[in-house]
Amino acid sequence: MSKKSYAVTIAGGGSTFTPGIALMLLEEHDRFPVDKVVFYDNNAERQETVAKACEIYFREHAPELDFSYTTDPVEAFTGIDFVLAHIRVGLYAMRELDEKIPLKHGVLGQETCGAGGIAYGMRSIGGVIEILDYMEKYSPNAWMLNYSNPAAIVAEACRVLRPHSRIINICDMPIDLMDKMATMCHVKGGRRSLQYSYYGLNHFGWFTKVYDSEGNDLMPEIKRHMAKNGYLDGIEHEEGREQHIDESWIYTFGKAKDVWAVDPETIPNTYLKYYLFPDYVVETSNPNYTRANEVMDGREKRVFGACRDIIAKGTSEGCGFEADAHATYIVDLACALAENTKERFLLIVPNDGAVSNFDETAMVEVPCIVGANGYEKICQGKVPQFQKGMLEQQVSVEKLVVQAWVEGSYQKLWQALTLSATIPSAQVAKEVLDDLIEANKGYWPELK
Ligand code: NAD
Ligand code: G6P
Ligand code: MN
Repeated sequence: MSKKSYAVTIAGGGSTFTPGIALMLLEEHDRFPVDKVVFYDNNAERQETVAKACEIYFREHAPELDFSYTTDPVEAFTGIDFVLAHIRVGLYAMRELDEKIPLKHGVLGQETCGAGGIAYGMRSIGGVIEILDYMEKYSPNAWMLNYSNPAAIVAEACRVLRPHSRIINICDMPIDLMDKMATMCHVKGGRRSLQYSYYGLNHFGWFTKVYDSEGNDLMPEIKRHMAKNGYLDGIEHEEGREQHIDESWIYTFGKAKDVWAVDPETIPNTYLKYYLFPDYVVETSNPNYTRANEVMDGREKRVFGACRDIIAKGTSEGCGFEADAHATYIVDLACALAENTKERFLLIVPNDGAVSNFDETAMVEVPCIVGANGYEKICQGKVPQFQKGMLEQQVSVEKLVVQAWVEGSYQKLWQALTLSATIPSAQVAKEVLDDLIEANKGYWPELK
């Protein structure tokens, strides 16, 4: 696809992550030249606040950039090379219910894991497929880089419903964890200097090897830190850093110490705490103030406050808008596809033997080499019994959710919840499900 410059659509233009990513595209212009950016959202009002502020910013910092925003799919998806998608079907209001409804039943409530993740998955599938279809209709050669959550369920739905589509699902959690490991080991250059092996599902995986750029094994040192403080020793206090800094995230990085102890041979993804310590998560949750509240009172207020400020003043000077440095992996990935760089990325892709003793139709998260013709997986071999057991259970949850969505099956969704390691019994699963169905009217397909 190598071109002089690229046209990018950001789907979910009203997302709290849009300004950081849009600014990052400008910052990375030298290696990934973008001459056209379109914001697309189905919520005109929410998008307009973000878009008008970005418009002022671009006018002041990149006047040559062709920028527009729209709710019209034809305008948004015609003549583009990449779609960067981060939509949240149901907004934070529904995230809050995903978190609070299960907690009412004594079950953990989380954006992407357990009952909350399942509820969100049932809302997201339709939204992501719709955007993918628009892209394929109006720009059939474009690539969609999707990080709309819950990425595991969304990826499985795309595998089943759109198996030949040019969509790659990605996640930034391992990126952040690699930066933390690099910091712990005093490796200069952060995550980009590490070579790693990893397997699992999205938000459900393990690092098995980590080397520095000279091939030195960093696992012994990482394990020493994990045993003492989890990921806490890897936290860098950077100016302008926005993500993963709130109190609840700090607890999660500390709790990784206990998660690691369950299998000290590997380094776990932080999200495994929800499956291995669900009782602890429930005990330490406030059923009246969950992460959705923390985000609405924090990131959402900050981002939308800054946008309103820029619009009121008519200038972005001193506005506090910053490029999201941690989102550079998205540019790296777009670059790899456009410029055939053949770099290594952790992607969510069909297993097909990459994990040899695991369901070949699972959507696994494994390292891949990415170039102009897409990705090639790097085999991770066999996983140990413990991980195999956990993976079999969780992949069945995710597959049942997608089947339930496709078939409109109450039974399969009940089975999915029953099978989740975060839910104690079929009875509790049914009670949670019935409340979630009520709350998600108009978002989920009707279940019979
Ligand atoms: P947000 O609510 O601020 O923004 C989401 C935007 O999507 C909203 O403006 C909304 O109107 C829009 N939207 C919803 N449904 C749509 C549809 N069908 N078509 C077009 N637009 C639609 O949410 P946020 O907190 O900024 O997060 C955005 C998404 O990014 C979430 O799914 C979040 O989980 C995900 N995310 C993923 C990763 C990852 O690692 N994969 C990292 C960060 C965020
Ligand atoms: C990590 C995960 C994302 C998730 C985000 C939640 O980055 O990889 O998938 O969306 O955390 O962050 P939030 O600040 O919205 O709770
Ligand atoms: Mn993620």
